Amino acid sequence: MNSTLRWLVRAMLWLLVATAAAGIGLAQEPTLAATPPMGWNSWNHFACKVTDGDVRAAADAIVSNGMKDAGYIYVNVDDCWQGKRDEHGMIQPNQKFPDMKALGEYIHSKGLKFGIYSSPGPKTCAKHEGSYTHEDDDARQYAAWGVDFLKYDWCSADRVYKPDEMQAVYRKMAEALHRTGRPIVLSLCQYGLESVWTWGASVGGNLWRTTEDINDSWDRMSDIGFEQNGLEKYAAPGHWNDPDMLEVGNGKMSHDEYQTHMSLWCLLAAPLLAGNDLSKMSEETLAILTNPEVIAVDQDPRGVQGHRVWEEGPYEIWTKPLTDGAIAVGLFNRGEDAEEIKLDFSAAGAPESASVRDLWARKALGTFTGSFSAKVPKHGVVLIKVK
Ligand code: GLA
Repeated sequence: MNSTLRWLVRAMLWLLVATAAAGIGLAQEPTLAATPPMGWNSWNHFACKVTDGDVRAAADAIVSNGMKDAGYIYVNVDDCWQGKRDEHGMIQPNQKFPDMKALGEYIHSKGLKFGIYSSPGPKTCAKHEGSYTHEDDDARQYAAWGVDFLKYDWCSADRVYKPDEMQAVYRKMAEALHRTGRPIVLSLCQYGLESVWTWGASVGGNLWRTTEDINDSWDRMSDIGFEQNGLEKYAAPGHWNDPDMLEVGNGKMSHDEYQTHMSLWCLLAAPLLAGNDLSKMSEETLAILTNPEVIAVDQDPRGVQGHRVWEEGPYEIWTKPLTDGAIAVGLFNRGEDAEEIKLDFSAAGAPESASVRDLWARKALGTFTGSFSAKVPKHGVVLIKVK
């Protein structure tokens, strides 16, 4: 062998080993969740009542109402689809879901991706059959059904595992999914226990919940959202902090509060999983979910999670650096009255003189020197891009 050939063979061998090691080390497809996953999940609106028909209706709506074009791709069934295991130990759906493979095919036929839910414990949080001792069976079953996303929810696993086994438990499912050969996004759901952000990526997670459950209220949403500061160093393309799914459009928050919810989640580079009934949605809700300039903040390919740069009482300023060198900035008013909030460009790392664009209004506001001020409504936000 001449030396060039030897070099080539060695390089190819190295590549093979590196690829295999990446497989064992569970770096799933590097293209998986390159930006925070976007889609819909059944839980926040339908909870345990969800049916095959509801999921198909969500898939239909995502396509017809423009959400798919805005980037919402995953259609995820949460808890309560499970029936019993058959004589071979393979999980079967319950009577609300007559044919999971057909459901997956329906979702795929629309150019969307199919998500499912389970628990590493014997039972899910709603007491359905979990994956305990059936991890490989379930991974194979999901792959056969065409599943593209698994939310894996701790629930009853604390009855059978100790907290220090949690990483191995999640890794086990990541490995089982990997062995199927199908790229499946793995969403860890264990409410932020054991500082999951420090190890979620290393066990094969593409996203991990950082908190307990959200609900459709200003108090809960804002507590969760604004407490994410400090976790930004753990997010990167392929691996995201997940402050839970969206409540936009579920009816118990005001328009300003839902805009705050969406703005904050986008600054946090959070997964955007709509949680409302997509087949009955107001134009106002759709506008919040699909504003392309706001979504672009979340989906920015640089994948930097934003953080808080200033706070005074109930007023907060959060920033997120973007690929094009601009900075997305949220001026938030958690107080009970409208208030003028001032952004000092130096605090945001912006140049002395910068152009400002209002992302919700999709309007250029002009060039400002030193600072920018805006009146922010109660529980509201002014979301801008500064360049
Ligand atoms: C937990 C999760 C929720 C949802 C329910 C389903 O509470 O955190 O997001 O999946 O279980 O039972």
